[in-house]
Amino acid sequence: MSIYGDYIKSVIRTVPDWPQPGVNFRDITPLLQNSAAFRKLVDSFVHRYQEMDIDAVAAIDARGFIVGAPLAYELGCSFVPVRKKGKLPFRTISETYTLEYGEAEVELHSDAFREGDRILVVDDLIATGGTMLAAAKLITRSGGQVVETATIVDLPDLGGAQRIREAGYSVFAVCS
Ligand code: PRP
Ligand code: ADE
Repeated sequence: MSIYGDYIKSVIRTVPDWPQPGVNFRDITPLLQNSAAFRKLVDSFVHRYQEMDIDAVAAIDARGFIVGAPLAYELGCSFVPVRKKGKLPFRTISETYTLEYGEAEVELHSDAFREGDRILVVDDLIATGGTMLAAAKLITRSGGQVVETATIVDLPDLGGAQRIREAGYSVFAVCS
């Protein structure tokens, strides 16, 4: 949890029963509309990672891009998109993961970074952890060193962060 965690949490809206009954959807759009809050969010990540020699921020399609791009800009490092299947035009490597119903796949360009580069993986939210874990595994398979996986929101009741840690990756969440 970051020093701004409680404040960031207070500007995220929970929409009950969306996109389906029983889901409490964490909507970050009020946070994005609030320029002071968005600045504090990006600053929380910058503060944590600015001395960690990050070579690239790998951000997950699509909401991860919102925080990943300004973070890479501020850290002065590369930005690497981890995209959903079928969106990247060059040679890709991919990782399949399980959703609540069915399967999904994330992809990375094979030349996205150099062997041994220090990579920070970012997304907006960890629920089951399947998406973040697939992205981290993909980066490891590509020869990158995953320094940490970072998210705005962790939903601890769903056990995602624990699952990612059990797979050997560090997890940081601004709020939960
Ligand atoms: C959401 C969210 C995370 C993922 C978390 O993405 O942005 O990437 O789900 O769920 P998990 O921990 O159970 O894997 P979504 O697939 O809805 O895509 P979007 O960012 O394009 O809205
Ligand atoms: N992705 C998966 N579960 C989510 C939730 N509860 N809120 C926002 N995005 C999500």
